[in-house]
Amino acid sequence: MDRSSSYGNLERPPLRQRALQRALEPDGWRLEVLDSAGSTNAVVADRARAGEPGGLVVVAEAQTSGRGRLDRTWVSPPRAGLTFSVLVRPSLPANRLPWLPLVTGLAVATALQERAEVEAVLKWPNDVLIGGRKVCGVLAELPMPGAVVLGIGLNVTTRASELPHDGATSLRLAGASTSDRGTVLRAVLRSLARVLSDVEAASAAYRESCSTVGSLVRVELPGGTAVEGTAQAVDKEGRLVVDGVPYGAGDVVHLRPAPL
Ligand code: BTN
Repeated sequence: MDRSSSYGNLERPPLRQRALQRALEPDGWRLEVLDSAGSTNAVVADRARAGEPGGLVVVAEAQTSGRGRLDRTWVSPPRAGLTFSVLVRPSLPANRLPWLPLVTGLAVATALQERAEVEAVLKWPNDVLIGGRKVCGVLAELPMPGAVVLGIGLNVTTRASELPHDGATSLRLAGASTSDRGTVLRAVLRSLARVLSDVEAASAAYRESCSTVGSLVRVELPGGTAVEGTAQAVDKEGRLVVDGVPYGAGDVVHLRPAPL
């Protein structure tokens, strides 16, 4: 590990695996911190296929091939954010599985509101925004039947010049009360454990709080087409209903926020 004392590294200390592991154990998490990985989702998917039980959390201090939704990438300078993946082996009916990435977004937004004192909101399906800018994204993958990998990328001390576009932000840029990554990681995983213990209740809370509902939106669909209209609801399957039509996947742009 690079132990040089440059300004950047003092400002971005490494995570303390042992202390974090002790704090997270009561919630059933087993934490591993890697100096570097291609994609933590790929690492955790391999472990799932090798028989790893649920509860594994792999954090990478740096990711070299971070993956995003819809074939995008996730880029973050080393230790500027949190890039980690969680292995879940849910005992849920198959039709509830699509809720997992959505309620993961809810868990992050709630943790940031409570622990970092920012007005974090959800943009369907699972982006977390502060002041209209994206601070966190979630990528869920199913490496094998019965296993779900929930990958979370969260910008913490990232500077404006380091962000991939101006629709993004970081906790520090948004004026959060903490930008200590260990503190934020503990809060997010505690919140995630709570949400996963009752996905039914969490999905109801998601449907109540998603800021996309009521907004004028453009939904960019996986095939390359797009539709515009008013987002009316998130339905029981977790799909976004725009002008009466449910969409199960896509990227949403908020064109005009919901009236207060
Ligand atoms: C998105 O908003 O497009 C989802 C981004 C998810 C990024 C995280 S970083 C940790 C985990 N490993 C990956 O390769 N991707 C997810």
